[in-house]
Amino acid sequence: MIEFQNVSKTYANGTKALKNVNLKVEKGEFVFIVGSSGAGKSTFLKLIMGEEKANSGEVIVNGKKLSALRNRDIPYLRRTMGIVFQDFRLIDTMTVYENVAFAMHVVGAAPKNIRKRVPYILGLVGLQNKAKCLPAELSGGERQRVGLARALVNNPSMIIADEPTGNIDPALSFEIVDLLSEINRRGTTILMVTHEHNLVKHFHRRVVQIHGGEIVADTMRKTAGTASAGAQDTEEVATDETV
Ligand SMILES: Nc1ncnc2c1ncn2[C@@H]1O[C@H](COP(=O)(O)OP(=O)(O)O)[C@@H](O)[C@H]1O
Ligand SMILES: [Mg+2]
Repeated sequence: MIEFQNVSKTYANGTKALKNVNLKVEKGEFVFIVGSSGAGKSTFLKLIMGEEKANSGEVIVNGKKLSALRNRDIPYLRRTMGIVFQDFRLIDTMTVYENVAFAMHVVGAAPKNIRKRVPYILGLVGLQNKAKCLPAELSGGERQRVGLARALVNNPSMIIADEPTGNIDPALSFEIVDLLSEINRRGTTILMVTHEHNLVKHFHRRVVQIHGGEIVADTMRKTAGTASAGAQDTEEVATDETV
């Protein structure tokens, strides 16, 4: 689903943010990306989103070489991704419902589908009772659940989250990762940058560590029965898509 082949990224000012990175992420995986500030984690995600371009090597997403993408292809690449931001980026003047509905509206979804889908997704993130609230009326954890709902509403094949728990109470961080785990169980690939060791320790997942622009560790911590559960989950995704 995502592949980096000898990828290097040097910014215009000469900063070498990524050096010869090789990595493969399969569909349905949940990957934590860890590393100190300035390690290259955000750059790694930006290359996947087509927000930055590699100087050398190849980034392949959904079977497409990103080096061959034209600028006008980028929005279509992004539609396969749900992006979650550290600072939520909700529209303050819109209710929870409207924030999520707007994400469907901008990709041209039919009003009838929006009316069906938004309550379903708000239920999934446990915000069915907050639909009419404005972001200012929510806790940090709730705001990020709106962010997640918005990322999920167009049924992306992957979620890309850059420190999604960076601005919320540590106790509520677990809630967000629990939700991401549930979403992953339904078949969505998850890439999440975090520097919270507690989270990484608690959720037994693949951990990719970046240091100085290089991958210095890549550990797989599979839980029992993952393979068979994965096959079963594909069905749930198909059902989900018809909503
Ligand atoms: N747009 C940019 N222009 C120049 N240097 C940048 C830019 N973005 C990031 N960098 C530099 O690239 C390195 C990696 O940054 P980043 O990927 O944001 O790291 P992380 O997310 O791990 O903190 C850092 O040294 C940072 O200062
Ligand atoms: Mg960063």
